[in-house]
Amino acid sequence: MSDDSLPSPTDGRPGGPVAAVIPAAGRGVRLGPGAPKALRTLGGTPMLVHAVRAMAASRAVSLVVVVAPPDGTAEVKSLLDAHPLPERTDVLVVPGGETRQESVGRGLDALPPGHEIVLVHDAARPLVPVDTVDAVIEAVRDGAVAVVPALPLADTVKQVEPARTPGGPEPVLATPDRSRLRAVQTPQGFDRATLIHAHETVTDDVTDDASMVEQLGEPVVTVPGHEEAFKVTRPLDLILAEAVLARRRLNDGF
Ligand code: C5P
Repeated sequence: MSDDSLPSPTDGRPGGPVAAVIPAAGRGVRLGPGAPKALRTLGGTPMLVHAVRAMAASRAVSLVVVVAPPDGTAEVKSLLDAHPLPERTDVLVVPGGETRQESVGRGLDALPPGHEIVLVHDAARPLVPVDTVDAVIEAVRDGAVAVVPALPLADTVKQVEPARTPGGPEPVLATPDRSRLRAVQTPQGFDRATLIHAHETVTDDVTDDASMVEQLGEPVVTVPGHEEAFKVTRPLDLILAEAVLARRRLNDGF
């Protein structure tokens, strides 16, 4: 998508440059032993570098704030120096916190003035296509205060009473109507002031930023997500990610 197709800052809607915050301070223990998840390589390039490039691929994004493990900030800085971005995009690296929420909060604290739209994108979703990033930005520019990319579910979902011992049987409490459920991805896009207010106000444990905005009573909307925006969580996801990259390389070669 070109800059020309995005609404201008003068038409009454939030315009101007977009910042992306990438929490990358998690240890990623579900992937098994090895390097911190964001530093695992895909196609020879660290997952975090893929995620940063995926944000910088949008011409609207002029700043990427990477939230690094507190003891790995210098390593992440030199990694990003070794993998430069397009000239239009600046990068900042800041130390993360104990939880994802805290890490995102530290990223927000580091934002300079001038970016009224903020994306929050998991480092663990390295392959999100630029069209999905631009669709999220466009929905915020169109007036939504919080936007999440979302996909319908393939599996039926059960609500259970968690077992007392791992692997034990779990009584099923309910089966929500699958047609009304969505799996949500990142980048999630926000009006900056709303997201900052949510982070200052909501202290509950949450797994995404949009749910904090929901707790403020503000509307959150979805746009179509993409199957290649999946989260690399378990060993099998690494194999899938390598396959997606191999297919992209093959397609780019023709
Ligand atoms: O654990 P989960 O997969 O939900 O983590 C999502 C994202 O949040 C990952 O990119 C991870 O690096 C990041 N995270 C963080 N700081 C933490 C925990 C997770 O930046 N303390």
